[in-house]
Amino acid sequence: MCGIVGYVGNKDAYPILVKGLYRMEYRGYDSAGVALVHSDKVEVYKCQGRVKDLETFCEGKDISGNCGIAHTRWATHGEPSNQNAHPHFSSDRKIALIHNGIIENHLVLRDALIKQGYEFTSDTDSEVLIHLIEDINKNENVDLPEAVRLALSQVQGTYAIIVVSIDDPHTLITARKGSPVIIGFGKDEYYVASDGSALVEYTKKVVYLNDEEIAVLTPGNDLTVKTVKNKRVSHYIQQIQISLDQLEKGGYEHFMLKEIYEQPRSIADSMRGRLNVKKDVVSLGGIVEYEDRLLSARRIIIVACGTSYHAGLVGEHLFEDLIRIPVEVEYASEFRYRNPIIYEDDVVIAISQSGETADTLAAIELAKKKGATVLGICNVVGSSIARATDAGSYTHAGPEIGVASTKAFTAQVTVLALMALCLANRKGKIPQKRYKKLVEELESIPSKVETILKDNESIKQIANYMKDFSNALYLGRNYNYPVALEGALKLKEISYIHAEGYPAAEMKHGPIALIDEDMPVVVIATNKGSYEKVVSNIQEVKARKGKIISIVSEGDVDVKKLSDYVIEIPETEEMYVPILASVPLQLLAYHVAVMCGRDVDRPRNLAKSVTVE
Ligand code: F6R
Repeated sequence: MCGIVGYVGNKDAYPILVKGLYRMEYRGYDSAGVALVHSDKVEVYKCQGRVKDLETFCEGKDISGNCGIAHTRWATHGEPSNQNAHPHFSSDRKIALIHNGIIENHLVLRDALIKQGYEFTSDTDSEVLIHLIEDINKNENVDLPEAVRLALSQVQGTYAIIVVSIDDPHTLITARKGSPVIIGFGKDEYYVASDGSALVEYTKKVVYLNDEEIAVLTPGNDLTVKTVKNKRVSHYIQQIQISLDQLEKGGYEHFMLKEIYEQPRSIADSMRGRLNVKKDVVSLGGIVEYEDRLLSARRIIIVACGTSYHAGLVGEHLFEDLIRIPVEVEYASEFRYRNPIIYEDDVVIAISQSGETADTLAAIELAKKKGATVLGICNVVGSSIARATDAGSYTHAGPEIGVASTKAFTAQVTVLALMALCLANRKGKIPQKRYKKLVEELESIPSKVETILKDNESIKQIANYMKDFSNALYLGRNYNYPVALEGALKLKEISYIHAEGYPAAEMKHGPIALIDEDMPVVVIATNKGSYEKVVSNIQEVKARKGKIISIVSEGDVDVKKLSDYVIEIPETEEMYVPILASVPLQLLAYHVAVMCGRDVDRPRNLAKSVTVE
């Protein structure tokens, strides 16, 4: 939510900042702005709209300067508008600030500042920060970094900020709590961004700031970092692991489509070095030391949001089937606020693509406080969740830029399957023949996904049929219930067609009332598990004139006869069906959204990295 970027050095700042905004536009896209430090003043250009609107707005204006900051916004406090766009100025227009996060005590601070005579020009919570910094800077006779530190010690909430000032025109001041800040090192230059994607074109050498740390960046000077409590800290420089071509569309019309097509590779990458079929070995380096802890756990609690939560539901089936340890899956946002019972011998697994989701981070902190072991499954290396957990395994899906999560889901399920297999083998409860078969089958999944992707044209035809409806129901049982939830989420978030995912057998307890000839029902009806029961559920839909779009195993006969449209997927083990069955549902949602004229990569009201509650 919101992307921030800063540059100071000897290059022109503006092109670097704008490119950085484009790279991070997935984090928010309702307004954008830039502040450039000129020789005599700080200039701010900002407007409602996308980064391209900002570029148009800046045409013909003075965009010179070697130091600047820029912001792309996802509104929390105050509607998207020119005034609410960042950067925000101090009253004397000498200091400018950008902010990602939420200042929870902004009303109290705002009232106090208004009483002191400060005038607010926006409805944002962020604006209190700049006036507070300005006030401390002037009245407490301290320099700007110290004013920033003292101001941050008064705020409650989350922040990633960058501040520039005309009084120190070659310095960026940045700080974080709860929202990411990455500092990039060039030759006599510094970069700052919410995300490595904005830096990687210029440098791979980075430092990840920790919560409640403030960094002062002046080219020629070493990085200095202090905590809000005024303690000096040192950081070691790390290498960022993103390549530029991962951040481009590579000939695809949308990032989402590219990412759907990347899945044979991203699933294989998630298994690389972890699955050795010849030796029948499954091992995840990141959790080796925690295998005993997991196997002796009283419970495994999976916490996540959105698509990652759906992957967690598949994980529940995998773990309970293969290692017979009770698993609970919770929305992180519910878990953190409902005073959950957490035992010290519980293991909590947090799943997150971005590694920055605020609710998931808060759930982790709660679990840690209660003494549980906390493991992570994250995609973004060095992300807050990856660092907050005791240990974990990365998904290695590569950067996911389309707002709708696709390859992250299949990679998460792959890692969960690897974990379950590895633990099952270690526990010694799984017959070797079965284990070997599951290992071999998992290795074949990328090529089966490849086969499914060849069906793109026929899935497009089904999309053409679905695009005219305003509702859809997705049904599945057992392993396929999370797939139904995920398929429905994909459709609604990018096409804005209302869709519900339901356990197929639950349909008769309510949703069946919705069924008529205007209700397409997507059923995941693969041949294992409760196949016959699902066939009965389909009969119930047909009897009420509902239209059936089914996902079946190759060679299916019964469901095909009952279906209006059919998508075949290759035969596989029941536990791997979620990986295969989710792929055609991603394509279906994608094509419906394109046909409805939606902005597929940047659906309305959404942002990729949900760093606010
Ligand atoms: C849906 C989607 C979201 C995310 C959710 C969690 O397509 O992208 O539902 O899955 O916001 O995000 P992460 O996995 O980054 O914690």
